[in-house]
Formats: sequence, structure tokens, C-alpha cells
Amino acid sequence: MALRTIRELGDPVLSKRAKEVREMTPKLRQLIEDMKETMYEAEGVGLAAPQVGMLKRIVVIDVSEEQNEPLVMINPEIIERDGEQCGWEGCLSVPGKTGQVTRPRHVVARALNENMEDFIVEGEDLLARAICHELDHLDGHMYVELVEGKLYTNEELDEMFAEEAAKAGEEAGEDKQ
Ligand code: NI
Repeated sequence: MALRTIRELGDPVLSKRAKEVREMTPKLRQLIEDMKETMYEAEGVGLAAPQVGMLKRIVVIDVSEEQNEPLVMINPEIIERDGEQCGWEGCLSVPGKTGQVTRPRHVVARALNENMEDFIVEGEDLLARAICHELDHLDGHMYVELVEGKLYTNEELDEMFAEEAAKAGEEAGEDKQ
């Protein structure tokens, strides 16, 4: 296993369409293992092959608390989407930034696993968001194209939350009087 270099916004590989995987090979197995390791090391919840410079339709996702339930999706496709959620989103290819994006609340996707067997995955909330975000990477799209309002730095976001918390505290205080 080895860590791969994560490509950042502006790298042309991130705006290209990735190609379907036709057969599993030792090289691709290695790529998948490296993608998992790279995602965990970077403390991300998802990584798509183009983010490590490989134009293959492969994503790894792990939204579990312990980060020990990797979901590998090859040639994934969303077959159902419903509902709506607006929330904060970030990307390992856009370090230190975050923005608000509206996504479906629930998706159903079809993909192949590492043994090239078909499976269906159903995701809600964060998993639905991660599936949409990672699959967009395979078509050369980034979440920054979908951000509502501005892209915040992590420091700006911390400040904003601190202000909101202080405001909420004041209001709660007023209620008591
Ligand atoms: Ni991303």
C-alpha cells in the first residue's frame, strides 16, 4: 500500500471524464487499496480515482464514525434520488475550504464491487451526499460549481459558528429574564 498524491482544484485531470473499468487487474486492486489509505490518511469521507490522477470510474467512501467500513464503488450510477438536504461540503482536492450545497436526501446507486459483482447501495444524509459528490468527480465536476453563496475558509466558518453560538446564548439568556 502506498499513499497517493491528491490533486488539487485547477489540475486538469479533475475536469476530465473518467473511463469505465472493464476488468479487475492487480494494478487496479492496488489503486483501490491506495485510495482507501490515502482517504483515511487525509481524514476524508470519500475519494474518487481522478483525485489521485487516475481516470477510472472508481470511488471509495467511508462515512462511518470509526472509519473502518470502506465502500468501494466501480462504474457507479445513481438510479434513484429523492428529497433535498442543504449542508456544508468540503473536498480533499479543495483543502481548507467549505461551502453549502443542496443534494438529494436519499439516493440509490448501482455499482460493481472489487470482484466486479453488481450491488446496490442506498444512502441517506451524509452517505447520499458523499455518493453524489464522489460520482460528480468521475464526470469531471467539483462541488465548488454547486456552492450556494460563497466558499468559506475553515477559519471563517469557525468564526461564524462562534458568533451564532454567542447570539444563541444571548437569546437564551433573555428568555430566562
Ligand atoms: Ni471531492
